[in-house]
Amino acid sequence: MTYQISSLEDYKSTYKRSIENPESFWAEQAEHFDWKKKWDNVLQWDFDGPSIKWFEGGKLNITENCLDRHIDTRGDQVAILWEPNNEDDAVRSYTYKELLAEVCKCANGLKSLGIEKGDRVVLYMPMVPELAIAVLACARIGAVHSVVFAGFSAQALADRVDDAQAKMIICSDHNNRGAKNIAVKQVVDDAMDIGCNSVNHVVVHKNTDGDVNWSDDVDQWWHELVDVQSDQCEAEEMDAEDMLFILYTSGSTGKPKGVVHTCGGYMVYTCFSFKNVFQYKEGDIYWCTADIGWITGHSYIVYGPLLAGATTMMFEGVPTYPDAGRFWKICEKHKVNQFYTAPTAIRALMACGDEWPAKYDLSDLKVLGSVGEPINEEAWHWYDQKIGKGNVPIIDTWWQTETGGVMLTPLPGITDAKPTYASYPMPGVQICLVDPDGNELLENNCEGLLCIKFPWPSMLRTTYGDHQRCKMTYFSTFEGMYFTGDGARKDEDGRIRVIGRVDDVINVSGHRMGTAEVENAINEHPNVIESAVVGYPHDIKGQGIYAYVITDEAFDSVGDFIQGVKDVVSREIGPIAKPDKIQIVSGLPKTRSGKIMRRILRKIASGDASNLGDISTLLNPDVVKEIKDNAL
Ligand code: PRX
Repeated sequence: MTYQISSLEDYKSTYKRSIENPESFWAEQAEHFDWKKKWDNVLQWDFDGPSIKWFEGGKLNITENCLDRHIDTRGDQVAILWEPNNEDDAVRSYTYKELLAEVCKCANGLKSLGIEKGDRVVLYMPMVPELAIAVLACARIGAVHSVVFAGFSAQALADRVDDAQAKMIICSDHNNRGAKNIAVKQVVDDAMDIGCNSVNHVVVHKNTDGDVNWSDDVDQWWHELVDVQSDQCEAEEMDAEDMLFILYTSGSTGKPKGVVHTCGGYMVYTCFSFKNVFQYKEGDIYWCTADIGWITGHSYIVYGPLLAGATTMMFEGVPTYPDAGRFWKICEKHKVNQFYTAPTAIRALMACGDEWPAKYDLSDLKVLGSVGEPINEEAWHWYDQKIGKGNVPIIDTWWQTETGGVMLTPLPGITDAKPTYASYPMPGVQICLVDPDGNELLENNCEGLLCIKFPWPSMLRTTYGDHQRCKMTYFSTFEGMYFTGDGARKDEDGRIRVIGRVDDVINVSGHRMGTAEVENAINEHPNVIESAVVGYPHDIKGQGIYAYVITDEAFDSVGDFIQGVKDVVSREIGPIAKPDKIQIVSGLPKTRSGKIMRRILRKIASGDASNLGDISTLLNPDVVKEIKDNAL
């Protein structure tokens, strides 16, 4: 069994041990898994390359550790519990035995369509159990899954499929989300029209009674493919450093990049962190409300919990459907013990009133988690008081797509928890704050840039198809360190609070977006000449999107133009990237070298244009007054 820290003393000594001798510490954790062959080296690394290899030479299949390994001890225990969008529909559940059988059938189906080890398969599906099954089926046969959040547009989907050169897309016919019905297969059809030349097969899971267009050449029903297969499928032997998945995420420049995670280290770290961060105990019901389209869903709905033999819940719907009590009703109904959500959901539900959580029995809750963005003090206290009744530890977990697992968090019931502080590093995580020159800030009570100076098993290995980009983005800012892109402060006792991104990445409702990506989308509008996008504080979303646009004014109605810009962003990226505010401007403040001064735009967008600093050196200082006067 994976080691579980049980006291403050234990945390301190475990942390110390993990730092003094990381190799023996992680080898000890890795021993708890089933390996087909043991590793030759625990760790070989060089951040300059970067080249990071954990458990090199080790052979395994992660699904044997998620599924087969549990069959004797907990084969009849529920592995995945699924709560549907419509509360009157039936709950579905899969025991470990049933899940293994379904995964094997799906894996055999993929093989019958020619998918082999190393092939990329894109999954574009809503939160139905078949998504988790498809993820595991890919891993079973060594195919590399790349889950694309089902809210992304056809263009965004095609971009990801093309970058990964995926051979197959697995999707649903339609998606039930709150009161909405979303035509998922149609988006895939549109993506196939604009790109996706590498795709030979589209497998469609029938989720609703909705109609779909059909092309016999490529389309294949999931039930026709999967139901006839054998429920036994030998697990492909993978090297610890073989690719497990690609997950696209936004950065400050260019198109989203494919973050690559590998089999062995990811397995060891997600299981270890799941058990410790959530203090999961045998028989607990664990619920993470994230979507499997994001890293949180990968690590803490699918892999971490299943590796640990947990019961993990998946929810198809949204927090406010049919009403703002849904989350709390589900907690009562399924007697949820660990609940993990995002600050944006907490803020949205807080705004709906205290009467909603008050209606339900939340007494089974033992841990309340937060992830994805900074949690503000008000939301933290509401979560603590109204959901936890002042009695349930809150864990503010900081991590990233690239880190694969939680890096900073209080351990519930073990370390203290201070509102808005992600607090303490997990064992093996050598976090540090540096100044802009890369000097480590060793004293407490300071503010700096958040870096990690030693490898941990679930760190990214590369960005798919472009290793140089990985080096430039994460390993070149400060020598010998992984740079997170976040700014942070350390309090007088050394607890860490993550303040937010210091690069051109914004975090809207916990969704990470590159300002350049949104600008590129806006610039597709025929009447837009140039644009600049910044984040601004938003009560519910954390950050909202503020776009400044220069237009050719060749349109009749400003209202239609603004709507047109929003539509173009929805089309290029997805509705989640739609600007909240669009200001038409005659110019953008630029330096003499032509660089947009985002600092000024951010200040104006935040409603605090009182002190813009020295603007006299700008190429066009006059435009600042105009922008300020017309700010939205
Ligand atoms: O800015 C940090 C913020 O989310 C970024 C990572 O986004 P993503 O890769 O989409 O992963 C989100 C889920 C793990 C980080 O660089 N972030 C995440 N968690 C926190 C946070 N900011 C403050 N506090 C957190 N707990």
